[in-house]
This record gives sequence, C-alpha cells and structure tokens, in this order.
Amino acid sequence: MLRTLFVLSEMAPYSKTGGLADVGGALPLVLGQLGVDVRVLLPYYGRPALHDLRWCCTVNVPYTGETTELWSLAERPQVLFLRYPAYYERDGSPYQDAQGEDWSDNDRRFASLNRVAVEIAQGRVSGLNWRPDIVHANDWQTGLIPYLLDLESRIGATRPATLFTIHNLAYQGRFAPSAMAPLHLPAADFHWLGTELYGAFSFMKAGLTYSDQLTTVSPTYAQEIQTSAFGMGLEGLLQTRSAHLSGILNGIDAIHWNPGADPYLPAHYSLQDRLGKAQCKSQLQSSLGLYPDPEVFLLGMISRLVEQKGTDMVLDILPDLLRRGMQVVVLGSGDKFYERQLLEMAAAYPAQMATRIAFDEGLSHHIEAGADAFLMPSRFEPCGLNQMYSLRYGTLPIVHRTGGLADTVTDADDFRHPSQCNGFVFDNPQSDALHHAVLRAEALFRQPALWSHLQDQAMAGDYSWQHSARAYFQLYYEVLARRAGGHSAPPARH
Ligand code: ADP
Ligand code: GLC
Repeated sequence: MLRTLFVLSEMAPYSKTGGLADVGGALPLVLGQLGVDVRVLLPYYGRPALHDLRWCCTVNVPYTGETTELWSLAERPQVLFLRYPAYYERDGSPYQDAQGEDWSDNDRRFASLNRVAVEIAQGRVSGLNWRPDIVHANDWQTGLIPYLLDLESRIGATRPATLFTIHNLAYQGRFAPSAMAPLHLPAADFHWLGTELYGAFSFMKAGLTYSDQLTTVSPTYAQEIQTSAFGMGLEGLLQTRSAHLSGILNGIDAIHWNPGADPYLPAHYSLQDRLGKAQCKSQLQSSLGLYPDPEVFLLGMISRLVEQKGTDMVLDILPDLLRRGMQVVVLGSGDKFYERQLLEMAAAYPAQMATRIAFDEGLSHHIEAGADAFLMPSRFEPCGLNQMYSLRYGTLPIVHRTGGLADTVTDADDFRHPSQCNGFVFDNPQSDALHHAVLRAEALFRQPALWSHLQDQAMAGDYSWQHSARAYFQLYYEVLARRAGGHSAPPARH
C-alpha cells in the first residue's frame, strides 16, 4: 500500500482561513478510500479540544531544542496534530496576530512543522513506526520540506519522493536572508537556483526548486503561472520545471456542501425540487434586514476582501446595482479599506445591502443557498471553491475567466458548449466588464425558464473529489516510478 504524508498549515473543520483548509479536510479522506495509506500532519492551534485527542509521541526538532508532541484524533488516527503551544496556540489566525500583522516568527514556526515532517519522512519518529513513500507538501508553509529532504540525499540518506502543491503563488513565505542561519540551513544554497527570490529567502521558492513534482490546483492556473502576468516573479523557474508541473482541479466536500442536507439551511432542496431555495432566500433577506421580495435579484459574495478577489471592482459597480434595485450580501474580512467601504454602502442602503465582516461558516452556507447569483470577479484564482459551492447550490456564479474559475464555469452565452452553460464569465478583470456580466445575469434571471435551465446544469455538474483524487493517486505512482528509474503502474483496479 502506498504511504503518503500530507502536510499543510490548516485543515477544516479544525482550522480554516481559506480553501486550503477545505482541501485538507477532503482530499486525504478520498485518497484513503482509493487505497492510499495517508497521514496528515498540521499544527495544533487549539482545536479540537485536547481531551478529544490521543497523545502519540514526542518529537525533538533537530538543532532547535524544541520538544514537540504529536496528537491524533481518536476517530481519524491518520490526522497528526503537531503541538507546540508557544508557536501555535495563540490568539489570532494561523499566520497573523489579532491586528492582522504576520507573526514575526513565522519562519521559525513553520520551519518547525517542516522539520517534524522530515523526521517522520525519514522514519526517525519511533513512536509512529511508519515511514511514507511520498511527502505531499502544500503551499509556502511547507516549502522547506522538499529542500530539507534534498539535504538528506546530499549526505547519502535515502528519502521519500516529494510532491509540492501550489495553492496560491502570491504568498511566498519571504524572509530576510539572515533567517537561514538560525534555521541551520546552509548559506551556500542562498542563490537563484536555490532558496533565493529577489534578494529574499523564500519558503515557496525552496519548495518549487527542490520538489520532485509540482502541481497546482487547476489546469488553467498551471499554464498561467508560467507567464509574467501570473507568475509573481517565479515564472522563469516554473517554465524550467514545466515537465514536472501539472494542474489538478480541486473538488468539493460533497457531504458538507449539499443543499439537500445542509444543517445550516432553513430549508433543503435539490435539483429536482428547488422550492426550498426560495425559502432560503426569504429567510436570508429577513435575517439580514433586507426588503423581503422574492422577485428581487440577490447577489452573494463570500471572500477574503483583498485585491486578488476583485473587491475593488465590486465596490465600483455597487452604487449602480443598488440603484437598479438589486440586493447584495457580502460576507468577508480582509483589507480595512474595503471593509469600511462595504460597511458604508450597507449603511446607506440597509434594505438592499448587508455587509458582515466576520468569518461565519453558517452564514456562508446560507448565502450560497439564498442568493440568486454569486460574485467572484477574482483577478487570479488558482482554483476557487466558492464558485463550485455556488454551482452545487444552484446559485449561478459570475466570474472572471481565470484559473479554476475558467475551468469550472461556462458562460450562459457559450453556444459551442450549450449543455455546459452554468454561469457568467467575463474576460477583462475590469469593473465595466463585471458590470456588463451582472446586467446580463439579471436579464436572464427575468426569464425564469432559461434561468432554471442554467440552474439545472449548474446543479447537475460533478464537483466531487473522485476524479481529481485519482489524478493525484496516478501522479504519486508516476513520481515514484521516475525516481526508481522504472515504470511502476498503480494497481489495475484503479
Ligand atoms: P481562498 O482560499 O483564496 O480564500 P477559495 O474559494 O478556495 O478561496 O476558498 C475560500 C474558502 O473560505 C471557502 O470555503 C469559503 O466559503 C471560505 N470563506 C472565505 N471567507 C469566509 C468568511 N468570511 N466566512 C466563512 N467562510 C469564508
Ligand atoms: C488558495 C487559492 C484558491 C484555492 C485554494 C485551495 O487559497 O487562492 O483559489 O481554491 O487555495 O486550493
């Protein structure tokens, strides 16, 4: 049985700031169902309660003198929480303090996670009695793992294969070059073919340089990041690694995001019977103080409020949308400037607009169900999960044609693929293009038969992990075969 150590910095439902957590909460489970012996390693930020966990063993982090502990879930023993309270059990998010500033010791915090992953990878954690064939690392917080394992090879040790998944190239884990020495990393590797990125020491660069295989979370983003427009300065490196870079689209947790059984919804519905969706809309309107009208076109948005997500474009067009009588609900948090403007708009139009600056899982489900259409005008979007939740909930997404949005949403007017039309897509990440798309959407909303047909197609799509988990499974074997210099194939039944 193939053994995989899956390492990441957040995992739903225990810790979550974005889609990475959703991937962590779903993909390993499906890989397990496919027959992979997968263990997940992530920091313990205080949830779940310790009394719901089982102590496994201690791990001494090489060089630092830190004594960490591994704890596992009783019902899911394959999830390993790395406990080191001084680093991870703090008020704030996994990456930032309560004021929204990055923790100043993020290099040491995540280096510690990476070092422990390597101890497990090298079979040096005796309490576990387990060693992986492949380490699957995710985003910059785990970028040192492939590098540290490369260092192991350099001293003649055997090591597992490494696969590094880019969830967002914009976050690069950049630190001062002087951060390498306290982490006991050789200064000789600080160069443009090593860990150096425009004068900084970068965890992301280390992952991209030293991993055996790279993936990202949609086929379109895999192409985009090899261009200067999307490569964030790493396009050159990614071009040289293109033979070992592919895009595998994320799936969704179809049990957690199911309008037919979602515990956060006031009513349930399905493709065959959407009556409950109207109830979700009216309850959403009343609970947020909006004018209760089933005929009004209601737009939802759930997002980190940052430039990536096109929040500024939404702000540009809001006055006109509200003037036309539409309703808009925004749930999110991020840049204070955007937060303030969205709150001001809601205060000016209380019967039409609601802004909630919060991270609210229940409300996010209710918005997905209660809105008619979903705004996601991201400038770039490696995959994006909210547009897929929207599709599943019959809430038609309005998206910019980029990354995973381009790979999952087909424009209502795309006559070449009539059976796939499921939303609204615009080409230029500019306010007027978004504006035009929203007006097109509203016009179709006024034609109930056409709208309902699009909802049918949206809800009928397969957004599950099955296909993509198989693609990872296949890739694990390919990487192992490449390292072994042979051609081992996965078992035929897969
Ligand atoms: P990203 O990871 O770039 O933020 P994704 O679309 O991949 O974007 O995933 C975002 C995830 O975080 C989704 O599950 C979304 O519902 C959730 N989310 C984002 N903001 C909030 C919020 N304010 N409250 C609740 N959930 C949120
Ligand atoms: C990142 C990306 C998002 C993607 C998520 C999970 O946060 O911004 O597009 O869906 O990771 O892969």
